[in-house]
Amino acid sequence: MKQILAVLVIAAFVALAALAPSPGARADEGGPSSTRAGASLTGPTHFLQTDGESLYHVACQVCHMPNGQGGSGAASYPALAGNPKLSASAYPIIMVLHGSKAMPAFNGALSDAQVAAVVSYVRTHFGNLYKDKVSADEVKGLRSMAH
Ligand code: HEC
Repeated sequence: MKQILAVLVIAAFVALAALAPSPGARADEGGPSSTRAGASLTGPTHFLQTDGESLYHVACQVCHMPNGQGGSGAASYPALAGNPKLSASAYPIIMVLHGSKAMPAFNGALSDAQVAAVVSYVRTHFGNLYKDKVSADEVKGLRSMAH
């Protein structure tokens, strides 16, 4: 058994070595990547991400900060961390869909499933422990609501 493993490991190394570019070609490896997610913030209003964590990073964190702690600048950004107002899912859903003051409305930018994903994410992270799942149907019901 051990021998088979050793052979596989060696084979993997040989394969990798064959695939790897010559050392000179890798000089810029590890530098900052300029083609990552942040671009979506200034792009069209539609977000391609589908999971809550990625959506939070591209759509929310610029104001609410990476750990949901909020902050103050041009406006005051409430903390989402440990926020009891997230206990009823309708509140954050309505906030994300329809906005409020300096909080933008994402109604036209996020699908029902995307809103459900990002709201589920903030309700189960940053010290929030609201485990009941937010469904796309719930979002759909609140989308047409007048604000
Ligand atoms: C441009 C900055 C900005 C972005 C981007 C933003 N928010 Fe907000 N958010 C705010 C501000 C400002 C408020 C406070 C609004 C008010 O006072 O009525 C707020 C309020 C909220 C609230 C209510 C908090 C409370 O305690 O009442 C929730 C929930 C929320 N945002 C979630 C999100 C989510 C989720 C996203 C990403 C999909 C997001 N926000 C993106 C600025 C932003």
